[in-house]
Amino acid sequence: LQPPSTAPLPQASRPARSFQLDYEQDCFRKDGAPFRYISGSIHYARVPRPAWRDRLLKMYMSGLSALQVYVPWNYHEPLPGVYDFAGDRDVEAFLDLTAELGLLVILRPGPYICAEWEMRGWPFWLARRPRCHLPSLSPAYLAAVDSWLHVLLPKIKPRLYQHGGNIISVQVENEYGSYYACDYEYLRHLLGSFRALLGSEVLLFTTDGTRAEELRCGTLQGLYATIDFGPGSNVTESFGVQRRVEPKGPLVNSEYYTGWLDYWGEAHASTSSVQVARGLEDMLQLGASVNMYMFHGGTNFAYWSGADFKDQYKPVTTSYDYDAPLSEAGDPTEKLFAIRTVISKVLSLAGGGGQHWAPLPPAPPKYAYGWVALRKYANLLDVLDVLCPSGPIQSPFPLTFEAIKQAHGFVVYRTQLPRDVLDPATLGAPPHSICDRGYVMLQQEYRGTLERDGQTTLRVTGRAGDTLDVLLENMGRISFGANISDFKGLLGNLSLDSSPLSNWLIYPLAIDTAIQQGRPHGWPHAALPKSSSPGRAGPAFYTGTFETPGIAWDTFVKFPGWSKGQLWINGFNLGRYWPRRGPQQTLFVPGSVLHVGCPNNITVLELEGAPPIPFLLFLDRPLFNGTLSRSTAATE
Ligand SMILES: *[C@@H]1O[C@H](CO)[C@@H](O)[C@H](O)[C@H]1NC(C)=O
Ligand SMILES: *[C@@H]1O[C@H](CO)[C@@H](O)[C@H](O)[C@H]1NC(C)=O
Ligand SMILES: *[C@@H]1O[C@H](CO)[C@@H](O)[C@H](O)[C@H]1NC(C)=O
Ligand SMILES: *[C@@H]1O[C@H](CO)[C@@H](O)[C@H](O)[C@H]1NC(C)=O
Ligand SMILES: *[C@@H]1O[C@H](CO)[C@@H](O)[C@H](O)[C@H]1NC(C)=O
Repeated sequence: LQPPSTAPLPQASRPARSFQLDYEQDCFRKDGAPFRYISGSIHYARVPRPAWRDRLLKMYMSGLSALQVYVPWNYHEPLPGVYDFAGDRDVEAFLDLTAELGLLVILRPGPYICAEWEMRGWPFWLARRPRCHLPSLSPAYLAAVDSWLHVLLPKIKPRLYQHGGNIISVQVENEYGSYYACDYEYLRHLLGSFRALLGSEVLLFTTDGTRAEELRCGTLQGLYATIDFGPGSNVTESFGVQRRVEPKGPLVNSEYYTGWLDYWGEAHASTSSVQVARGLEDMLQLGASVNMYMFHGGTNFAYWSGADFKDQYKPVTTSYDYDAPLSEAGDPTEKLFAIRTVISKVLSLAGGGGQHWAPLPPAPPKYAYGWVALRKYANLLDVLDVLCPSGPIQSPFPLTFEAIKQAHGFVVYRTQLPRDVLDPATLGAPPHSICDRGYVMLQQEYRGTLERDGQTTLRVTGRAGDTLDVLLENMGRISFGANISDFKGLLGNLSLDSSPLSNWLIYPLAIDTAIQQGRPHGWPHAALPKSSSPGRAGPAFYTGTFETPGIAWDTFVKFPGWSKGQLWINGFNLGRYWPRRGPQQTLFVPGSVLHVGCPNNITVLELEGAPPIPFLLFLDRPLFNGTLSRSTAATE
C-alpha cells in the first residue's frame, strides 16, 4: 500500500470516535452528540450476494441509519474447525458494502440466533456431542462456542466504530430469557469472551421479550438490556417494562415486527402497513431507537429454513418474505413507503438526519419465462451409487443423521422383509421417530409417506427378502423453545406388526454435490438406468432446460400438479416446494442464478408424485397464498 500523500493529522486534533450510552439524557452518544438509530434487519445468508448492494441501497434510501445483522454460526462452520467465508458466505464483504453505503451496523453474532434459521444458527454437529446440553455451561458446548468466537470476532474488531469502522454495538446471545434456563454463569462467560476479543469500549447489549421472566433470565449487569415487541403492543407499556430493568438510558426496541413468517400448511401471514407505520411513529416520537425486523426478509435457500415447536413440529416455508417493507425479491412495497413517510416526518422535525431522499431505484425487473417441459430422468433409488459414492453404512438398527454426520437433506434406509407378508401388516414407527418425513418404497415401488406428528403407519404386503427403502427428509431443525435436541432421520426402530426390523444399509445422500458436478444433466445417456420405472409416484429426478431472452431477470416458478420436493437451477439449490400443503406456491429464482446465451439446467427432485405431463410455470410475480393461487389459476 502507498503511504498517504498528505501528512496525517496530528493525533490531538483527530476527533475521537465513540459510541456510548448516556444515562443522563436517556440516549446514545455518537462522537459525543446525542444519537438514536432507525434500523432494519437483513440477513445476508438469505440474500444472494449479487443482490446485496441493491437491497442495502434501498434500505439506506428508505431513511434507515443502521442495519441489524445476524451471523449464523452453522453457515460458517459446517464441521468442527472447518470454516467457510467464501462467496455468499463472505460476511466481511457484506460488512464492507454496508460501510461503503454509509450505514451503521448493529451486529448479532449469537452464538444462538433463532431467526427461524436451521437449528437456531448452531452447527448440527453440536448435537452429536455427548452430554452437550445447549446452551449452558457444558464444557463441550462452551469450547465449541469459544473456538468459533476466536475465529469470528477478530474479523469484527477492526470494524468497530471506535476503531474507525461502522459497527456501533454488538448483541450477546439472543432472547436468552425465553430459554428459561436462567444460567447467568453462561451469560457471564459469553460477556467475558466478547470483552476479551472485542475490547472494553464496544457497547454490548441483550434483547428479550417483554415478559417479566424473559427479562429476569435474559439480562445481566454489564450488558445493556433492550426489548422486542411488535405493532400489536402498547408502546408505553412495553418501554415501561424495559425501564424496570434499565431505569435510565436509551429506549430500544431491537425487533419491531413488520410482518411475520409462514409455516407450511398454515395461512399466509400479513401485517397492516398502517399499523406498522403508526407504531413506528409512536416509538420515534418517544425518542426511542428502533430496529425493524425484518426490513428485507429474503429466502431460505437450500435447507436453511428452521422450524418451531408449538404442540407439534412446524417447519418454516422457503420464502422468508415476512411481509416485510422490501419484498423477498427486493421490491419496495406500500409498507416501505408508509415507513419512509414516518421517518422523513420525524427526522425533519428533529432537524434532519443527513439521509438521502432521492427516488428509490426501481424494482428489479421480473420475467414470466412461461411453461418449461421437464422429463423424468431417474428414480432416486436407481442412482444411489451416484448420490452415495462411498457406499452405504451397515447397522443393525437405524442411525440418526447426526450419527452419520449428515447435516441436511436426505438419507435412504434400506432393509429386507424378514418374512412373507401375505395379509397386510402394519409398518410403523414409534411416536416422534420419523424426523421429519419418510417416503416408503417396497421393491422400488412407492407405498406412501410417514410423517412426524402425522401418519406414522402404513399397511403393506410382500415376500420374504423384498427390499424396503425409506427415504428420510430433514425439514429443518427447531429454532426456538426448550426442545433443543432435534435429531433427524429414523430415530427409532421401524417395525412390522410390532416386531422391529433390523440389518439396515444406510445411504447418506450427497445430492447437491452430484448436481453441482453436472448431474443428472451431465449423465451420459448410456448410463441411464434401464430399470427406471415409468411410474409417476415416488422420489424421482426430473430435468429440463430453458433459455433467457437476452438478459437474466428474476422470476418465480410455480409447480402445477407437483406434490413436494426440492429445486435446483444451474446447480443452485432454490429450496423446498410444497404446493400440496402451501401456502407458498412459487419459489423465487434470482436472475443471478440464470445464464444468458446457453440453456439453463433445471433439476427437480419430486418426492411423492409428479403430474402426468410434467411442466413448470415461470411467472413474473410470487404466489404466497395457496388459496389465492387456486382462484387465479385459470388466468395463467
Ligand atoms: C397504553 O397503555 C397506557 C398505560 O397502561 C394507557 O394509558 C394507554 O391508554 C394505552 N394506549 C393505548 C393506545 O391503548
Ligand atoms: C389468503 O387467501 C384466503 C382465501 O382467499 C384469504 O381469506 C386470506 O385473507 C388470504 N391471506 C392473505 C394474507 O392474503
Ligand atoms: C418437547 O417435545 C416432546 C416430544 O416431541 C413434547 O412431548 C414436549 O411437549 C415438548 N416440550 C416442549 C417444552 O415443547
Ligand atoms: C431397536 O431395537 C433393538 C432390539 O430390540 C434395541 O436394542 C434398540 O434399543 C432399539 N432402538 C431404539 C432406538 O429404540
Ligand atoms: C447444463 O448442463 C450441461 C451438461 O452438463 C453443461 O454442459 C452446461 O454447462 C450446463 N449449463 C449451465 C448453464 O450450467
